[in-house]
Amino acid sequence: MMGHDIMLAGPRRIGKSSVAGEILRRVRERGAYTAAVDVFRTATTETLATRLIEAVVANRTGLLAKAARDMKELRSHLGQARVSARLHDLELGEALVEQRPSPEDLLELGLVTAEKIAEKDGRRMVILIDEFQDIQKLGGGELLKRMRSIIQQQQHAVYLFMGSQAHLMNDLFAKPNEAFFRFAIQMHLPAVPWPEWEQYIEDRLRTQGMTIRDTALQILHEKSGGHPHSVMVVTEAALLHAKLAGKTAIQADDALYGYIAAMDGTLGAIYTQQWAAVREYKHAAKALLAIAEGREPYAGVSSRSGVTDAIKLLEGRGLIVTEGRGKHRLVEPMFGAWLRSEAS
Ligand SMILES: Nc1ncnc2c1ncn2[C@@H]1O[C@H](COP(=O)(O)OP(=O)(O)O)[C@@H](O)[C@H]1O
Ligand SMILES: [Mg+2]
Repeated sequence: MMGHDIMLAGPRRIGKSSVAGEILRRVRERGAYTAAVDVFRTATTETLATRLIEAVVANRTGLLAKAARDMKELRSHLGQARVSARLHDLELGEALVEQRPSPEDLLELGLVTAEKIAEKDGRRMVILIDEFQDIQKLGGGELLKRMRSIIQQQQHAVYLFMGSQAHLMNDLFAKPNEAFFRFAIQMHLPAVPWPEWEQYIEDRLRTQGMTIRDTALQILHEKSGGHPHSVMVVTEAALLHAKLAGKTAIQADDALYGYIAAMDGTLGAIYTQQWAAVREYKHAAKALLAIAEGREPYAGVSSRSGVTDAIKLLEGRGLIVTEGRGKHRLVEPMFGAWLRSEAS
């Protein structure tokens, strides 16, 4: 194999898809072919398959402006003379028209075509399958087995499996009876060190003719806790505030405003939902509040196993992580602040 398949699981909004997009951009720059599909956004196996085929052949045809929703649309896209001329050696047309594939066959066709194009053109094909755990909803274990049997024979296609539901991803990849057992190298997304955020924020602002004061950066750091999505949302809101005031530098008051606006808006909406889902489990809600408030989740609780299960549930949902010596912390520090002010 020219490269190894990779699996990356981690909580929502820590930047997996952003990093994957950047990886694909870089490997494309170095001449590789790429394709990306998001299983979360595809309601059926047929849609997933058509998206995959279009993304794969787009490396040759350049066409991806209007992605097909179903097989009929896919046939008509691929049927255009200019497109089919560039795909003549793949026998795609025959497979689609004559064999009338089922959605599962179509997905298989997408995977096989990826390898074929890569091989014929002497390139590597890097395929991102985002929110991969949702494959289970589409086709269960059978579909997974079928995918693996194809993928594991491939030489030129390399896969990047990503997912936000770490417990499902880990089950898929780590449990001996699951289809993707020991199939991919597991990677972890390291936290972005704060100085790199500062550099990134300053560079981005510069393209808009803006700068940012150190005091404002400090507030962004403290309030967001360095969580990628929080950093971006608060920064955007602070930028808007500064611009509306006609400033060319983001100052401390803009950063504070950004924080409040993010809490009231985008992030508050997410946290409200997250908290509602956790509150369905009494032990989990109590444990989460305790962790947010810096208390020991086991303190004063009679059922230790209830707390242990609650902590597993919170970890499984990507809301908390457990560090050395059994110390827990929230993945999104701003969710902690929101809990302390809203949920008490
Ligand atoms: N490394 C990063 N650089 C810049 N922005 C980021 C980064 N990681 C995350 N973000 C911001 O956070 C948001 C959520 O990130 P995303 O990649 O969608 O996370 P995930 O795929 O883990 O759910 C993005 O839309 C982007 O604004
Ligand atoms: Mg994502």
